[in-house]
Amino acid sequence: MSAPVKIASPIGGNAGKGAYHVSERGYYGEFGGAFIPEMLYPNVEELRRKYLEVMSEPSFKQEFDQLLKDYVGRPSPLYFAKRMSEKYGTKIYLKREDLNHTGAHKINNTIGQILMARRLGKTRIIAETGAGQHGVATATVCALMGMDCVVYMGEIDIARQAPNVARMKMLGAEVRPARSGSKTLKDATNEAIRDWINNPVDTHYIIGSAIGPHPYPDMVTRFQSVISEEIKAQLQEKEGRENPDYVVACIGGGSNAAGTFYHFLDEEQVKIIAVEAAGKGIDSGESAATSVLGHQGIIHGCKTLLMQTPDGQITEPYSISAGLDYPGVGPMHAHLCTSGRATFKSITDDEAMKAGLELCKTEGIIPAIESSHALAIFGNTSFKSDDVVVVALSGRGDKDLSTYIDHFGL
Ligand SMILES: Cc1ncc(COP(=O)(O)O)c(C=O)c1O
Repeated sequence: MSAPVKIASPIGGNAGKGAYHVSERGYYGEFGGAFIPEMLYPNVEELRRKYLEVMSEPSFKQEFDQLLKDYVGRPSPLYFAKRMSEKYGTKIYLKREDLNHTGAHKINNTIGQILMARRLGKTRIIAETGAGQHGVATATVCALMGMDCVVYMGEIDIARQAPNVARMKMLGAEVRPARSGSKTLKDATNEAIRDWINNPVDTHYIIGSAIGPHPYPDMVTRFQSVISEEIKAQLQEKEGRENPDYVVACIGGGSNAAGTFYHFLDEEQVKIIAVEAAGKGIDSGESAATSVLGHQGIIHGCKTLLMQTPDGQITEPYSISAGLDYPGVGPMHAHLCTSGRATFKSITDDEAMKAGLELCKTEGIIPAIESSHALAIFGNTSFKSDDVVVVALSGRGDKDLSTYIDHFGL
């Protein structure tokens, strides 16, 4: 009898290992699943059947790793923020996703998904974007692979993220405005889903966060899990141990957080802090604090925590940061929240902007406003002097300069 063929584990490791990983049916506890219109079933089902198999192919992993190294510039540094650490009396490390090509973590996922789309024989790519980082990352990989690209973006986000709109156009993408609802990320996602329903055969939808119907949250998380894989190796080198005491990341839909937390999920001694946008204040009616204001519901193909009215209409979210301006969180984070594995913190616009400016002045790094939310926890959380706290610096602040300028009257 011939020996069984050994299948390598997919990117991120084997599925369903611990209580916080996705189940075979696509659930994290009670959250997740695939709630999709019939027209999308063949697409989503094809992806569900094939994604782990494709990710396990040695040639796929090799191409993914090569592009992350030579094109994205990975591994991203794990930087010991000395002056911040002195100020807050603890050891603060920043995982520098802002130094990636295109300026944020989003490119890790788009590289993975464009390779997946090619393996599935797709020729056209669509995407949604909020801050424009995912749109730029998608337009970039489409240019790299010579594929058609349409990016949906809310009208309000088009106005507040103008540099990224210009970038997408230069990269050859068509940017289509979403003019319904709050004219932000949620509405752009609705438009992208509508497009996919109309073009089910040749089109792959590159979802930009750990949201959407199964297998998207798991697939995106696995592509982003390179972040925590690198943190482990880098901490071993710098601190002589793989595990920090805390990992901290901001949450829009939750992809940088999912990637930052992934390899620590089963290490219960590592405390997880997820930071969401409280906008003008949790009780102001203008926020995106899903962990406090959300209830179980269905959005964009999955069951998760989302902000809604008593009769189930989605509440319009608000945040100064376009990337956190989303009424839900991905299903993994909903589970981390309700199970108590992660502590959720809500940070207001003002707190985030202050923390962003502080990083500029103490470390010489201009962060994306999304990342500034994660940094703001040092203003309201105490850590011990020997705690190792790793914060995901998910993106750079170039795209947000006009918002910083307006806010501080610079
Ligand atoms: C720099 C940056 N950080 C964070 C986010 C939030 O997205 P996610 O929660 O998927 O990481 C975005 C979204 O556009 C972003 O651009």
